[in-house]
Amino acid sequence: MEFNPSKYDIGRSYDWNYDNVPDPAQIEIPEIGGEWKFCGKPVESPLGMSAGPLLNGRWILYYASLGFDVLTYKTVRSRSRDCYPLPNLQPVATDQLRGTETDLPAIDDMSGSWAVSFGMPSKPPAEWRADVEWTRNQLAPEKLLCVSVVGSIQPDWSLDQLADDYALCAKWAVESGADCVETNFSCPNVATCDGQLYQEPNSAQLVTARVREAIGSTPYIIKVGHVSERDAAEQLLESVVPFVDAIAATNSVAATVRGLDGKPLFDGQCRGICGDATRTASTEQIRLFAEIRDQRGWNVSLIGVGGAGTVQHVRDYLAAGAEAVHIATAAMVDPTVAVKIRRDW
Ligand SMILES: Cc1cc2nc3c(=O)[nH]c(=O)nc-3n(C[C@H](O)[C@H](O)[C@H](O)COP(=O)(O)O)c2cc1C
Repeated sequence: MEFNPSKYDIGRSYDWNYDNVPDPAQIEIPEIGGEWKFCGKPVESPLGMSAGPLLNGRWILYYASLGFDVLTYKTVRSRSRDCYPLPNLQPVATDQLRGTETDLPAIDDMSGSWAVSFGMPSKPPAEWRADVEWTRNQLAPEKLLCVSVVGSIQPDWSLDQLADDYALCAKWAVESGADCVETNFSCPNVATCDGQLYQEPNSAQLVTARVREAIGSTPYIIKVGHVSERDAAEQLLESVVPFVDAIAATNSVAATVRGLDGKPLFDGQCRGICGDATRTASTEQIRLFAEIRDQRGWNVSLIGVGGAGTVQHVRDYLAAGAEAVHIATAAMVDPTVAVKIRRDW
């Protein structure tokens, strides 16, 4: 295979932006056979990219050309929002995380896991809506375009207003041509309740019901954070299952980070750790959710997210009960990761 992926300066001075986008790759993508579905729609593989790295339609077309079948457009909002200051991606040294860790040491070079700190920036709605429409028109018909949205809570807002804001973004995404919508219910980097909805089953239910009302039968996914307790998992699932088609887990595992100088980074607040170190926690979460789902006879798909980068990781997620596996970090570090997984299938 002749293919030179563009080199990006991954790490603290990050060179991954809206304009610096490679052209789609002209390479052959190995087929993996079998029948695969995503939220009831046929797809060619269980491989997708999760929300974040795909900043716009050109990024989506690039990764669609590299063997991913479900492409998630980065989380967008009902109003524009700036990005947090650097570092946005801070490599950390850590073993597999359990969710109780603090003070992870920052390191210079990416070795599989990093703290992610963007704060879910967004282009203004007119811009992302036009781009979603353009993207769906350009994307091959067999590929699915998922748009991730989040509500933007304002200081004087009630939960009801936040639910309306989520629903408005979801409706805009569908009107612009999204095949599926994902609402992000977990962002450890955001201190307000829009970042923690997955920990509040009643609030999560109100928002999912409102979004469902707004998007009709369009496939609907919620993205949740790390849940390891059975009771919490049961309560969350019970409250959202009537309204959603799928649950993507896990967004990340939260931890505090110490900088290279030993001082707390990010003002000592937690950040979402993404990449390799989250795989065990996330696969276990899928197993727990699948067990509860099957015991209760619920009809909801699960999407494994976190630390996947090899065919074995994908198989482990599928064996745990996932219908699909979505990747962010490993695909940024090596854009050909899906090609390799398909080749090794
Ligand atoms: C650069 C980057 C940006 C991200 N931005 C978002 C985002 O906007 N919305 C979201 O739901 N998750 C976001 N995430 C989390 C990923 O979708 C994914 O849940 C997480 O990285 C775990 O998968 P991974 O280990 O394959 O990276 C982001 C992750 C990365 C690495």
